[in-house]
Amino acid sequence: MSEHFEEQEFNTDKLDTGLWKKIFKLLWVHKKKLAVLYFFMIMVATVDVAFPYLNKMAIDTFISGNGDLSQLPWFALAYFACILAQGINVYYFIKQAGLIEMDFAYDVRNRAFKKLQELSFSYYDKTPLGWIMARVTSDIGRLAEILSWSLMDLVWGSSVMIGITFVMFSVNWRLALLVLMVMPVLAAISVWFQKRILKSYREVRKVNSKITGAFSEGITGAKTTKTLVLEEINYGEFNALTHDMRAQSIRAAVLSAIFMPIVMSLGSISTAAILWYGGNQVLLGALQFGTLMLFTQYAGQFFEPLRQIARLLAEFQMAQASAERVLSLLSAEPQIVDTPEVIAKYGTVLNPKREAYEKIKGNVTFDHVSFHYNPEEPVLRDFSLDVTSGQTIALVGETGSGKSTIVNLLCRFYEPVSGKILIDGVDMRERSIGWLHSNLGYVL
Ligand SMILES: Nc1ncnc2c1ncn2[C@@H]1O[C@H](COP(=O)(O)OP(=O)(O)OP(=O)(O)O)[C@@H](O)[C@H]1O
Ligand SMILES: [Mg+2]
Repeated sequence: MSEHFEEQEFNTDKLDTGLWKKIFKLLWVHKKKLAVLYFFMIMVATVDVAFPYLNKMAIDTFISGNGDLSQLPWFALAYFACILAQGINVYYFIKQAGLIEMDFAYDVRNRAFKKLQELSFSYYDKTPLGWIMARVTSDIGRLAEILSWSLMDLVWGSSVMIGITFVMFSVNWRLALLVLMVMPVLAAISVWFQKRILKSYREVRKVNSKITGAFSEGITGAKTTKTLVLEEINYGEFNALTHDMRAQSIRAAVLSAIFMPIVMSLGSISTAAILWYGGNQVLLGALQFGTLMLFTQYAGQFFEPLRQIARLLAEFQMAQASAERVLSLLSAEPQIVDTPEVIAKYGTVLNPKREAYEKIKGNVTFDHVSFHYNPEEPVLRDFSLDVTSGQTIALVGETGSGKSTIVNLLCRFYEPVSGKILIDGVDMRERSIGWLHSNLGYVL
């Protein structure tokens, strides 16, 4: 059956805002938890920005010797309070992000499972099992991870960058400009590399899932392999896959290896510029030593959030395929549904009104039924059949002649294109799917 099915190719070239809007709607259910998480992330960022500033105060006030040492205990207390606060912040943000990740995955998996209960048999008939499995397990997991941890990094990263920029400009705008000078280059390089690194990792994952598939085929199909002497061919195919995986993994590693030194060199350039310009200023007495220290620290600190944000943008692009797959499952509509009148009388599959179910006698009539799975390939043409209760019949015909199709229609897994099927003289569409299925037995 899976040969009738083709996996959609998802567009991952640019961000699809409409799609992410729908995903964020699913996330919005957890808005209170998100607010708590982002509060703690902003607190973490604030303390991250405050530490170098406290160091500057320590150097300029206490170490350089022209300050008032009696204030030292208060300063030590403030420093200690910052450390303590950061400990508490880190505890809460990790807990909160984990909570959101699990809650989101739990919630979406439940929705997906409920949807799978509602979908018609034809959905399962057309959709490969592996496809459904991937959606309810890894795709939902990926989304949950990116929506909790990566978004959190974005909040932290932008808060740190805004905080540092603000403090730098209020302390010394010339030095601030020197630090910010290399940032656009750094940002461009980061985005370029992160995109490619993540793409390689994605390829690795893709090949990895093919390898897992090949393994399971190799094991479950061992009998076929042996009888058809396919060992050599199988081994060749498997070898090609592992080769692919090796090549992609090396590519990812090489890209990361090039990326880091470039970034570190650029970072050193901005530190060097600060030391050169700021150092001269210190020698001239126009700048305090602690301020120089502050800027060298900030120059180093600025990069990490930048890298996180670049990674995040690439990640969102990659996760878009997962998002599309999850949404396509959640928005799938059952092809065979009861009419509103039938639902009012008999209830739904998940909420049946069993007291309204009539007792079945078991007379079955196919009344001029025509049916096809694909319009080009008619399976039944003007088919009529009467079976009375208690009668045993056997359908005989060559393979592909439509025997199973007749049973599928009787089970209402599919509906006739024209004509109707009556049970005890009543069109089966006038009673609910739940009623029909609770009166059916099917032995495979
Ligand atoms: N899910 C499907 N989608 C598209 N075409 C289908 C599907 N299931 C069956 N068909 C096609 O419908 C025709 C009738 O198939 P059906 O399974 O009813 O035959 P059958 O008589 O039960 O054969 P067999 O003896 O092999 O079980 C075949 O041409 C088959 O290829
Ligand atoms: Mg059959």
